[in-house]
Amino acid sequence: MSTAQKFTALQVMTDAPVIPVIVLNDVAHAVPMARALVAGGVRMLEVTLRTPQALACIEAIAREVPEAVVGAGTVRSKADAQAAANAGSRFAVSPGYTSAVGQACRDAGLALLPGVASGSEIMMAQEDGFTELKFFPAMQAGGPAMLKAWSGPFFDVRFCPTGGVTLQNAPEFLALPNVVCVGGSWLVPGDAMAAGDWTRVTELARATQALKK
Ligand code: 3PG
Repeated sequence: MSTAQKFTALQVMTDAPVIPVIVLNDVAHAVPMARALVAGGVRMLEVTLRTPQALACIEAIAREVPEAVVGAGTVRSKADAQAAANAGSRFAVSPGYTSAVGQACRDAGLALLPGVASGSEIMMAQEDGFTELKFFPAMQAGGPAMLKAWSGPFFDVRFCPTGGVTLQNAPEFLALPNVVCVGGSWLVPGDAMAAGDWTRVTELARATQALKK
């Protein structure tokens, strides 16, 4: 069992204005990519369980980049939660919510940012004690207007909108009182990764520091 410091979902969300959503196809990219993001001031890293290499990438980052806090994204099952924790993930993000995934993350000692896109899903996550949620897919499911509408009935919930968020539209989300941070894949473009252009990744990360919460 890892002795690494535990994080709450709120700590994961408040560390920086943006949580990068990372898709890794090559284990050799994991460590330089994580170092490039950390160099740009972004250390909470969501590595999605979407590729066969994802768990090995999480392991490599957890082992070799202690300045980063690596989490697993696309956690959809109990098995995903357990595998993510075993690989050294310190938090989990899910694209939707089920009580089984919520409980599996608790059992594995992982803070979870559950994904929601409707009032009923927010209520199910709240029933299970989750009040910091990912709004996914944010732009497609209603964008900032949806979050404004939710701020009335769900006044006690805080969100990380993800999906279609960019450096350009992030300020509109971050200006909302119920938004703590945003998530997005734009910090780690596939072409930069394929080319090993880590300087560009650092620059994209650094640019997010101008975003204010
Ligand atoms: C995802 O899980 O794919 C994220 O929401 C990333 O969305 P984006 O590519 O639109 O930032």
